[in-house]
Amino acid sequence: MNKWLKSILIAACCVFAAILMLCSLYEREEPAKPEAAEPGPGASAAPADGSSAATPGASPAQAVDEAAALEIYKPNCMACHGDQLQGTMGPPLTAVGSSMPPDQILTQIEKGGGGMPAFKGTLTDDQIRTLTNWLAAQK
Ligand code: HEC
Repeated sequence: MNKWLKSILIAACCVFAAILMLCSLYEREEPAKPEAAEPGPGASAAPADGSSAATPGASPAQAVDEAAALEIYKPNCMACHGDQLQGTMGPPLTAVGSSMPPDQILTQIEKGGGGMPAFKGTLTDDQIRTLTNWLAAQK
């Protein structure tokens, strides 16, 4: 009985996922954001057959926007980390992507510490994420 219920649930989820996929196919014309706010438990559903991200689960938007990151970096970070990430009073960040995992980079930016100010209230979450993605790619 229990198993039976489970398979019904799973089937329902599949139907739901299929509907989501169909919807995203039809909405492909719009350049808007790919992940609409769907309250599905399937989380990050499936990127349909979109020519883009074929990576399963994990981090969806790891895109590095270097131009945007630099716009944030220059006024906030450059004084201590240098115009080439070479470091001044702060450590160089040229290979920080190799020495720190992204979540640690994010925490360092949000909380600061060791002589670095916290940026949690100064920068938006989006800005911090942009910086993190960019720095994580410095290897
Ligand atoms: C007032 C100077 C100062 C500013 C401004 C500053 N930092 Fe730092 N930063 C430091 C210092 C000093 C450390 C070393 C902290 C430690 O060793 O605990 C550091 C460490 C880091 C680290 C960890 C690097 C490592 O190898 O340990 C990252 C990542 C980082 N900063 C990113 C940023 C970003 C991004 C900004 C701008 C939003 C920024 N910092 C602004 C001084 C600064």
